[in-house]
Amino acid sequence: MTGEIKTEKLNLEEVGRHFESLGYKVRKLDQPWRHVRGEISHENERLFLKLACTEEIGERTRNERGFNENANSVWKKYLKCFTTPKIFDEGYYLGKYWFVDEFVFGKPLAEPGQKKTSISEKDLEAAAKIAKNIMELTDISLLPKDKEYLKTVRPERLLEMSEEWSSSSHRDTKKLLRFIKERKGDIEIAASHGDFTPWAIMKTKSNNYYLIDSEAAQMGGLKFYDVAYFYHRVYTKLKRPDLAETFLDKFKQTANWTEKNTKEFAPVLAGRIMGGYFDAERDGVTSTELNQEMEKNLLS
Ligand SMILES: Nc1ncnc2c1ncn2[C@@H]1O[C@H](COP(=O)(O)OP(=O)(O)OP(=O)(O)O)[C@@H](O)[C@H]1O
Ligand SMILES: [Mg+2]
Repeated sequence: MTGEIKTEKLNLEEVGRHFESLGYKVRKLDQPWRHVRGEISHENERLFLKLACTEEIGERTRNERGFNENANSVWKKYLKCFTTPKIFDEGYYLGKYWFVDEFVFGKPLAEPGQKKTSISEKDLEAAAKIAKNIMELTDISLLPKDKEYLKTVRPERLLEMSEEWSSSSHRDTKKLLRFIKERKGDIEIAASHGDFTPWAIMKTKSNNYYLIDSEAAQMGGLKFYDVAYFYHRVYTKLKRPDLAETFLDKFKQTANWTEKNTKEFAPVLAGRIMGGYFDAERDGVTSTELNQEMEKNLLS
């Protein structure tokens, strides 16, 4: 989906009054982009509010709530490397979905735009293990029949999206597009977080890793999507190819990477690189040069 999603500025005073009327104490509210984010409390327990600014965005927000809810119940015994914030409450404000969840007292592993960005090897290894752990949800959530069906539609969808990105980018991306077309048959299906970056992983003082922002999570995603996403974002948006390579090496070690995996990974990464050209022309952060470098390495 390359179409821009409409946002709407909500009146934060009215939002504050609404949540006060529900019995919350509102400490802080802001709306950087698609969500109003709030630090609120209930009977002295610190909580986090995420309110979608439109009904359409609310559908994604509900997806995040579903992921967090399952991660804290049916999937709990399978999740060894990370936690997600526990859901405390949910509802609609003027038709827009919101949830309140556990407040995470921690920091993201890194954020784009920081002056001196670094991520320790230990945290990169933790991220690699989290990516693997998410993929392990596939077989407890999907039947072989589901996978078989998704394999007929998901790679096609990646190609369609890549074609859209390609046609709305000023670059010549014919070679990259051909690469995806020729190799889409190698793609497999697996669970993915969908927005797996160092800024979606919060680490607490007691070294617990919380995975947040699971709006795009799905059980029938592209295998290695999260690995490709993290690798690509760290490489081109955090502009740290060295950290990206360390992450990928750690993942390969932890997942006992095979030649077959290299084949499965390549078209998925190519799709991310195509998305990267699209992003670089719009987000003002992603580096076109590093994206080109990544493309050159992949296609060589
Ligand atoms: N449960 C939580 N506890 C404490 N802080 C949180 C929690 N969830 C999110 N945050 C804070 O809010 C920031 C943004 O969270 P999140 O990415 O979920 O919001 P978002 O509106 O979906 O952002 P984006 O639109 O960029 O995807 C995080 O980096 C973190 O600082
Ligand atoms: Mg988000």
